[in-house]
Amino acid sequence: MRIDIITLFPEIALAPLSESIIKRAQASEIVKIYAHNLRDWATDKHKKTDDYLCGGGQGMLLKPEPIFAAIAELTTTNSRTLLMTPQGKPFKQSMAQNFSKEKHLIILCGHYEGVDQRVIDELVDDEISIGDYVLTNGAIAAAVVSDAIIRLIPGALGDERSHQEESFTNPNLLEAPAYTKPINFKGLEVPEILLSGNHAKINTWKKQQAYQRTKQNRPDLLE
Ligand code: ADE
Repeated sequence: MRIDIITLFPEIALAPLSESIIKRAQASEIVKIYAHNLRDWATDKHKKTDDYLCGGGQGMLLKPEPIFAAIAELTTTNSRTLLMTPQGKPFKQSMAQNFSKEKHLIILCGHYEGVDQRVIDELVDDEISIGDYVLTNGAIAAAVVSDAIIRLIPGALGDERSHQEESFTNPNLLEAPAYTKPINFKGLEVPEILLSGNHAKINTWKKQQAYQRTKQNRPDLLE
């Protein structure tokens, strides 16, 4: 997969993708990630990428011209273009799964009050929000979305099974509580069932715990 991120802050988008699992995925060419500065497509001498809102209102909006030029240059026959915006559809694990099958993602990052609507109408396939809060810029969201997508590409995580057993996957529940050693830590004990060696019973326990935790922390997932 190839990911092109278009942003005013390429370093912000790249920093979280430059360590650990995603770093290894890039080294083994499972994914190629490029972050581009939108300013490189600005045409005037001040490299202006934003302007005032038509009709008035506070703040600035990203102008259409540099974005149209950037996407025209980066688009191939296999491209899917995502816009990071708090006005988008809530990002879900199921979306990450779908996007992980794409050959080429272009991720456009909003800034200030967002982007000119003509960009959305003409160029954007999916508007994505990573949650009901407003970030200073979409490069942070682009890193979050890229990370969630890349780790699902076959080969990116060492152990392929780890996808099947994680939260929000099949069924859409949170994961059960987990414990490691020591078995007794300052009098706090690991539940005995996990030490029983009875895998059928352990699985039943995990399912019950996952359900309880989901009911408590994310009742919306059970509706
Ligand atoms: N840009 C600013 N806030 C955002 C959010 N919640 N999701 C995606 N992009 C954003």
